[in-house]
Parts: sequence; structure tokens; C-alpha cells
Amino acid sequence: MPSPFKKIDSSDLVFFKSVLPDHVFTNEEQLQRCASDQTEDLNYVPEVVLQPDTVTEVSAIMKYCNGKNIPVTPRGAGTGLSGGALAVYSGVVLDMRRFNKILKLDKRNFQVTTEPGVITQELQEHVLAEGLFYPPDPASKGSCFIGGNVAENSGGPRAVKYGVVKDYVLNIEMVLPYGNVIWTGANVLKNATGYNLTQLIVGSEGTLGIITKIVLRLIPAVKHDLLLLVPFRSAVEACAAVNAIFLAGYIPSALEFMERDALLWSMHYVQATGISLPEDIQAHLLIEVDGNNKEQLYADIESISAIMQQYDTGEILFADSHEQKQMLWNLRRKVGEAVKSNSIYKEEDTVVPRAELPELLRIIKEIGKEYGFRSVCYGHAGDGNLHVNIVKGDMSDEDWNGKLPLGIRKLFKEVVRLGGTISGEHGIGLVQKEYMDIAFDTVQTQLMKQIKQVFDPNGILNPGKIFP
Ligand code: LAC
Ligand code: ZN
Repeated sequence: MPSPFKKIDSSDLVFFKSVLPDHVFTNEEQLQRCASDQTEDLNYVPEVVLQPDTVTEVSAIMKYCNGKNIPVTPRGAGTGLSGGALAVYSGVVLDMRRFNKILKLDKRNFQVTTEPGVITQELQEHVLAEGLFYPPDPASKGSCFIGGNVAENSGGPRAVKYGVVKDYVLNIEMVLPYGNVIWTGANVLKNATGYNLTQLIVGSEGTLGIITKIVLRLIPAVKHDLLLLVPFRSAVEACAAVNAIFLAGYIPSALEFMERDALLWSMHYVQATGISLPEDIQAHLLIEVDGNNKEQLYADIESISAIMQQYDTGEILFADSHEQKQMLWNLRRKVGEAVKSNSIYKEEDTVVPRAELPELLRIIKEIGKEYGFRSVCYGHAGDGNLHVNIVKGDMSDEDWNGKLPLGIRKLFKEVVRLGGTISGEHGIGLVQKEYMDIAFDTVQTQLMKQIKQVFDPNGILNPGKIFP
């Protein structure tokens, strides 16, 4: 299929260099660095990588590319799992890594204004030093950018108590394809003024504009946390135990599920010692509670522990030392990488209403049998958000490319039937767009396409994403 876009030529490069004398890259190393993200083994080489660091530069680039019909793909740290940062039509990758400044910490108002290229964990540590807390903590928090988190509406383990990125974004400065710079809202906790452009941009995956500043809401830092690792002899029962905790009146600060292989592979990957995985254990729940009153937390974790013991559990590991907590969280965070290092895989990001989780897991395994695939499941059980890693193993290329998509389709239909949807926190991007018809009918899809048209009439911004 011929590209609908113009190829970049020497006169375009002359223009880019006039805007960014030292930050226009066409060398193989930079092009390859920006050709992939963390999504499968996908690789799309851009024609040029631009690294602006002012909104004026972004505006000039957008205006030019829009006028010339050159596609622009914004890029954060490249940790995405749905191919959102891949330049599928080549063209410009707008690499936002130099937008790396935390601009203002407004302690009085519990707000921070940041550029998008700041590493999420660095932002968290920066505000924590002042006694403030920015909770969203994707597994990649040590390397991902806050701008990418906003673009994808990321989550992470703490979402179950504290919410996802959308719950913290108050206001966004962005550049539109014609080069206009706008703020989407106001730096306020309540806002009933017109359409909510801020929340439209959160999760828009770089298809509507380029994010150049973000104002985030913060909360007071929490003093203590405690962690439990609960082994189960049945994975479906582990999923069922999740809801019992909420029904008893507790909201943990994290409630994570790991199937046996997820933990096992992660243990091998990080070469963990000090933790055993008996033969008869099929899954674990990792349960964290947090708060300011230590006695209360101990009482809560005891009660939760007692609830867990009503199921067929193994020996519960209680972690209260910093080292032990770090070790367990590291194991959990490394599951994705561990699976990736083991086999070619596809990652589905299913989410259902929490109480439907046991049924979801049962269905995943049933469809796996029917379509001949093996899956390793783990994720944010407290949110009903299960990452389904389908491993290629010794599956033939023919089955992987032909039969498997039919199995995924069936799975997503079941997810929607259970009241869920096809991505909880990784986005649609490139790799899930073929399944969008399962989540939305033509009227809904048309509405979204019209919104895209309003923001980006020429379709130059991150083309080839979200819509099939
Ligand atoms: C996680 C990422 C893959 O939960 O979302 O580890
Ligand atoms: Zn996750």
C-alpha cells in the first residue's frame, strides 16, 4: 500500500535544522533507537528523529509537518506495550526526552507542573522529598516518562486504592498540528467549565496533540505499608479471594495476582533467593496495605490474612522489612520482562468488573485449550485487570499468525460480555486496533474518528493507531 504521506527530503531537513540546529538525527543509531518500544519485537524505522526542548520548537515543527503532510509520531521513553510510539508510516519521531524538567512544585496547593520527559519515579521522589505523593506507579516507573503515562493513561499496582493517571491530571499544555499552543483546563480540583479537554487528551495516545506541560494533583505522603504474599493451590480460587477482601471492607493499596509461571519465570530472571515455590502452588496474591497508623495496619493485615486462610492457601509470607518488600515488589515488577526474555509473546491487557475475575481466568484457560495456546497471567487483580501473556513457545508460525488472532478475538468478546473491555492500562496503539470493533460499535467509533478529525484534520499525528 503506498504511503499517504510525503517522504522527507533534504529541504525538510534544512528546515528542521533551522529550528533545532543540534538536535536533528538521521544516523542509524538514533533511528534504530526510536524504531521499537517494548511491544513484542516490532520495528518501524523513522526517517528522522527530532529532539526539541521548547514549546516554540514543537509548534514550528508541527506547523511545518502539517503543511507538508509529514507524519509525526511523539515518543516518550519507549516503554509502551501497545506500539503507541512506533512510527508505522515512518516520517518524524518527535522524541520528547529533552523535555525533562520538573518546573514547579506548588506545595501550598498540592500540585506539581512538569515537562513530559521526566522519569515517573524521579517525579515521585522529587515530590516525596517535600512530603507529597504522586501514586500512579507503572511497572516501568524507573524508566518510563510521565508524558507517556499521560498519553496512555497508565495504571500500576496502586491504582486499586489511589486511581490511575487520569485521576491526577489537572491541566495539560499541548501543541496542535497547526502549531497552536493551548492549555486544556485549569489548575483546579473541580472544573465544570465546558467540555473536559484534559481528560480527552489523557489516554489519547499521541493522536490529538503534543503534550508539553502537565499539571498533576498530589496528596500527602503515606507513612507506612505492609506486604503479604499469599500462595494458593488453585489460581481461580486466588482470583475469587480478591473480592472477599473488599467485601470485608478493606481497600488494599495494592492487590496483585501472579500465576505460578509468572512468579517462577520472574524468580529465574532476577535470580531470586529467599523465596520458595512449592510444587502444589498455582498462584499468588501480593497484598499491600498502607496508612499512617501502624497498629491499625497490623490489625488490617491480620484480618486480611484470616480471610485468605478460608481458602486453600500455603504458608503466607509476611514482609515488613524494607529489603523483603523490595524483593517481592521487584519480582512482581519484573514479570513482564521475564516473560519477554523467555519466548516471543503477545500481551493482552484484559479488564473486567472485579467480581468477574475468576470467570475471566477460567475462560482464558478454556480458550487457550481450544486454540492451542499457553498463557501466563498476572496483573492488578484488585482492579479486575489481568495481563494475559500468550507465549509462542513451540506454536507454529501458521497457528501464531492465523489461529491465535481468532482466539484473542474470542477472548475479547468474552471480556466485553463480562462487562469489561480490551485494555485496562496499556492502550490500543498499533497492536490492539484490529479488535476495537469488539469494544465499540460503528456509532461510537465514528464519534471518536470525528474527534480525531477536529484536532488533526490531515491525520499527520501518530497515524495508524487506535482505529483499524
Ligand atoms: C505490569 C505491566 C506490564 O503490570 O503493566 O507489569
Ligand atoms: Zn500492569
